[in-house]
Amino acid sequence: MGLVLPGAPDSLRIKQLEEGASALRRSVICAFNQLLDLKDLNTGVHSTRLAEWGLRVGQELGLDENTLQNLEVAALLHDIGKIGIPDSILRKPAKLDGNEYALMKKHPEYGWLVLRELPGFENAALDILHHHESLDGKGYPAGLKGAEIPVVSRIVCVIDAFDAMVSSRPYRQGLPFEEAVRRLILSSGTQFDPEVVQSFLPYAQADMDMVFAAAGTSVTLAL
Ligand SMILES: [Fe+2]
Repeated sequence: MGLVLPGAPDSLRIKQLEEGASALRRSVICAFNQLLDLKDLNTGVHSTRLAEWGLRVGQELGLDENTLQNLEVAALLHDIGKIGIPDSILRKPAKLDGNEYALMKKHPEYGWLVLRELPGFENAALDILHHHESLDGKGYPAGLKGAEIPVVSRIVCVIDAFDAMVSSRPYRQGLPFEEAVRRLILSSGTQFDPEVVQSFLPYAQADMDMVFAAAGTSVTLAL
């Protein structure tokens, strides 16, 4: 954090404090991102791409600067709570059974528990808590419906679902781009916010080559 000079004009002091807070915020995001890397949890499309998509969608939806900042954090760190999930579940090379899935579904709460402790991250923590809610109320952990779900969570939900669909896992090949798009559209209005899906699709389309290179699937193979 920068040194605030005694006797400096208020505007300068405020600017320095803001710069300090912003630098600290960056460091925290970076440190948590490193943790995700250490646990090998940054799979699929690189997390910075998810954040970039999220921010573009958020800007198109007219979110204010503060909300966009929370969106960046939530897009980058939405799965930070998976650090609390046993490796036997995270790395299981097959579908999870009922008990394992129930444990896996704890990760949004774990992420919220960690991030809410950090001053300035309280809202992002709530956004992370709700990133697996479904528009029709059938999601988790709270079963929130429609606009009850924070807009940031609705955005992260769509880009995360798309990333999961096109990414290959040890037990299954990633879906072709067009099939992933078809499923996003199919679940618009039930699971996903239709406005978010409509806003996101052109960006996904534009980055398709990069997405498939990162997801371990070739575009030609996928198409
Ligand atoms: Fe998640």
